[in-house]
Amino acid sequence: MKYLVILSAIVLASCTHLPPVPDPPCDPGIVDFTNEILPMIQSNCAMSGCHSSSNPADGIDLSSYAGIRSEVRAGNPDESELYQVLFESDEDLMPPPPMAPLTDAQKERIRLWILQGAKKTTCISDCDTAAVTTYSGSIAALIQTQCIGCHQGPTASGGVQLTNYSQVSGAVSYLGLLDAINATSGPTAMPPSGPMTNCNVALIERWVRGGMPQ
Ligand code: HEC
Repeated sequence: MKYLVILSAIVLASCTHLPPVPDPPCDPGIVDFTNEILPMIQSNCAMSGCHSSSNPADGIDLSSYAGIRSEVRAGNPDESELYQVLFESDEDLMPPPPMAPLTDAQKERIRLWILQGAKKTTCISDCDTAAVTTYSGSIAALIQTQCIGCHQGPTASGGVQLTNYSQVSGAVSYLGLLDAINATSGPTAMPPSGPMTNCNVALIERWVRGGMPQ
């Protein structure tokens, strides 16, 4: 009984120190699989004709955690196929040319995620709907993770480029970007793998409402 009282005291004490919206919480520095790695891989590798769930190339389906997980060795990036192919030369390089390679920063996030055990982490930070949002402050990074794999270079889907401020703001004004990220199904729902988190959609909407500051 005494033990139980002490235990509940500890639980209560630790609860009061939790951040406002732990969903579920991650320690600082932990890579967020659901919100960072998954969309990055979905937009760079799991588009139709490549490693999507329907008819995946080489039988490798990278559209879900299970499929991605089977291509990595937890804790060991250098023995993980998914990580190694990012550095190959010639026809083994992924994504294959003319698609753009991942950036060094993106490769580093994947390396870190594997190193941390390749877990299915979800660490949404609280959705601060009051903060001022600028393109360079947060929208560019969001589009980089969620959209750019399909929307850059000579192979850009639908001919839509989303690699800089003028292209993204142009897509809002002329190509229905807001409708696309709010649609939940149909050919024009973006990203095609399913809607982003409410927080990410709200972030872009707030940026547009604020006049799309750079
Ligand atoms: C897996 C690939 C893929 C990803 C990721 C992706 N798109 Fe698309 N996008 C497409 C394809 C394919 C089309 C062409 C659809 C069509 O013409 O029917 C398209 C078309 C569009 C269009 C033109 C209007 C429309 O709906 O057809 C906009 C705007 C757009 N995407 C925005 C985005 C945004 C914003 C993101 C990120 C939140 C995103 N896309 C992520 C594949 C993708």
